[in-house]
Amino acid sequence: MKLALIGSNGMLARKVRELAPVGSELHGFDLPEFDLTDRAQVLAAMARLKPTVIINCAAFTNVDGCETQEDLATRVNGAGPGYLAEAAQAVGAVLVHISTDYVFAGDQTSPYREDDPTTPLSAYGRSKLAGEKAIVASGLARYFIVRTSWLYGPGGKNFVETMLRLAVERDELRVVADQFGSPTYTGDLAAAIFRLLALSSPAYGIYHLADLGECSWHGFAEAIVELARLHGEPVKALRVLPIATSDYPLPAPRPAYSVFNKEKYLAATGAALPHWRDSLDSYFRERSQLKKGV
Ligand SMILES: NC(=O)c1ccc[n+]([C@@H]2O[C@H](COP(=O)([O-])OP(=O)(O)OC[C@H]3O[C@@H](n4cnc5c(N)ncnc54)[C@H](OP(=O)(O)O)[C@@H]3O)[C@@H](O)[C@H]2O)c1
Repeated sequence: MKLALIGSNGMLARKVRELAPVGSELHGFDLPEFDLTDRAQVLAAMARLKPTVIINCAAFTNVDGCETQEDLATRVNGAGPGYLAEAAQAVGAVLVHISTDYVFAGDQTSPYREDDPTTPLSAYGRSKLAGEKAIVASGLARYFIVRTSWLYGPGGKNFVETMLRLAVERDELRVVADQFGSPTYTGDLAAAIFRLLALSSPAYGIYHLADLGECSWHGFAEAIVELARLHGEPVKALRVLPIATSDYPLPAPRPAYSVFNKEKYLAATGAALPHWRDSLDSYFRERSQLKKGV
């Protein structure tokens, strides 16, 4: 596999790099040398490299920032994936593109399937949906659009690291308890992407990939604080209090419920992703090893 990894300095890209199959040749592309919004540069870079697989981990991921910079968000998250699809078509590569649960409105009460209607609530969600549509409209046949949710892992800003910092600084945490989703460890997602790529005759298209189970941000925070204590972090927080979304107003509205139905991936690969609690524990063990320099 000759792999072009777009957004190669990001959090998910780090695990894609680590878990790429032995023997694959990986080439990273990221700002400032490579700008996904520059169509000519994207086409030229892919034409030069001639990858067999392009994995797009690049995105404008600041969800609240997208509200005031929707133009830029739409160029990176909306137009950029279309350029990659065009490039993939030209060189005969498979494109893997990462999308988000924020393409959904969150008003369902049962897990979202791949073909459920998309109604993003935020500029970020709209820009990511534009990226999905650009790939579909490109005419490229061999693509995986992988929607995921609540990502965390080493080497990135994420909810787990934010809660850990606050739990060490504060006596009490107040966390939103009326938004439900599935936390997903970057290592699980990267492994699942390579499982899809290893299929001999895959059904290309959209896949929902997230760790098993569901919780609220409050439930996730409680689990983080509990595990932090078990793993010897200097936790000061004694309580994690549930609050309502309306008590913590943010610029971008979030879906109240964005749990995925993952049957399509299970049917395609025969593999399920781990439960989010088990993966959170694995992440804490990995953090300890990284701290010890192992
Ligand atoms: N994080 C989550 O909770 C979450 C949830 C659902 C889906 N996703 C999706 O999962 C994917 C990976 O997310 P992540 O959290 O790993 O992202 P990340 O850590 O923010 O990494 C994104 C990378 O893309 C780069 N980038 C931004 N604009 C670019 C451009 N114009 N040209 C080239 N590279 C550019 C960024 O560079 P700079 O840092 O220099 O900007 C960064 O290195 C994204 O598609 C995201 O939308 C994330």
